[in-house]
Amino acid sequence: MAQEATAQEPIETLFNPNSMEYALDPGPQCLALAERGRLVWYAPWMCWIMTRMPDIMDCWKHEYLSSDFYDWEFAPPRPKEEDWNNFERALVGHSLLADPGHHRLIRKITSPAFSRNVVDNINAAIEPDIIKLFDDLGQPEEFDYIEQVARHIPFISINRMVGIPDKYWDQIKQVVLTFTETWNPTISEERRQKAQEDSNRAIDILFEVIAERRAAPQQGDFLSTLLKIEQENENFDEWDIVTLILALIGAGADTTLVAQQWSAYAFLKNPDQISPALESTEAFSNAFSEIMRWAANSKMGFARYVPEDRELLGEQVKKGQMVLMMPHLKDRDPSVFADPERFDVRREFNPDALFGYGPRFCIGAALAKQQLYLTMRELFRHFPNASLVEEPERDLEDHNSITFKQLRVKTNI
Ligand code: HEM
Repeated sequence: MAQEATAQEPIETLFNPNSMEYALDPGPQCLALAERGRLVWYAPWMCWIMTRMPDIMDCWKHEYLSSDFYDWEFAPPRPKEEDWNNFERALVGHSLLADPGHHRLIRKITSPAFSRNVVDNINAAIEPDIIKLFDDLGQPEEFDYIEQVARHIPFISINRMVGIPDKYWDQIKQVVLTFTETWNPTISEERRQKAQEDSNRAIDILFEVIAERRAAPQQGDFLSTLLKIEQENENFDEWDIVTLILALIGAGADTTLVAQQWSAYAFLKNPDQISPALESTEAFSNAFSEIMRWAANSKMGFARYVPEDRELLGEQVKKGQMVLMMPHLKDRDPSVFADPERFDVRREFNPDALFGYGPRFCIGAALAKQQLYLTMRELFRHFPNASLVEEPERDLEDHNSITFKQLRVKTNI
């Protein structure tokens, strides 16, 4: 297979997720990449790309590659314990990412914090904020959906989920905006450092919030549930709580912001799909998978690192190399989805791997779907005749997803 690849045109001439062509129509480039094989070397990023769904599902399920950023050949050296700052103590020392055994244990013992009851309480806490966001918008002729709605949602969700009192919201905001930069392999060390400093400040605040909640526990809320878990499990301490909250910020902020933009865009482009999608939360759950399939907005997929030299899917891979799993490559493939350009919220997904699979299945899936459902419901309740002012300009800055610079909506009221 490797020999065949050298005889072909370099893959970067056919697949460049940072290009405007990709941002406008990722489908053909995704197909071109997937056609190259199951594991493709991508020189611009010095990494392998895993292209096929069965291989990705298998890798998700069996975790034979590492999720630890510090196992990457180009990562900065793993900090020594005696030099750890708060950020490193939370993310290196108690990493949800690093050790699969510890990870599974944490997922198991924290599951009560993600039980139906707790998630319902979080959803109930978020709903008034989302309604207020739209009430505060008033009756403008037009507005930018990203600036005036989407940007606020991840921040509201995480604050309400953790129960962070309003007095800390301003200080937490910066971290929610920059947290994923702390381990982003594609940005400068200086920018990563700055994001880590923001996170260190957030960790101090989280300790204050935890101390306050310890003094006055509440019933059935997320943080009080975690504090109870801490009391009952000697393998779970305050740092694990902080790590978990940072993981929620890291995994839940950018994903939500992107999903918000594409949900509004998909419905504004396909208004006949709004009512079937909003019929019920179950209908919306399927609609959301269709939104993300149709958007095919991912650029990088999910990073893993090779733990030792080995053969993988017919290729020789080396310890420390990055492997990007790209489940989105199938999303515009006509052999997988009939008429893939058509947006159809009743389309069936089997398997539906939007939120991952196996031990690292998304913790925030229920919360993500509910906050999107509520936001779309309010958007079209307030502005049933909304339309796009213009085709939104794609923003090439985001390293991870295709996003928009603005999403200007005409309310037509
Ligand atoms: C909005 C749409 C979202 C999508 C499409 C999504 C998708 C995913 C996927 C595919 C994974 C697996 C990643 C991997 O294997 O490397 C994942 C993991 C995760 N997600 Fe989400 N997610 C979303 C929102 C959220 C939200 C809102 C939260 C938290 C409030 C969240 C928290 C997490 C966490 C903590 C993990 C890591 C789980 C672990 O390693 O055990 N996600 N998500």
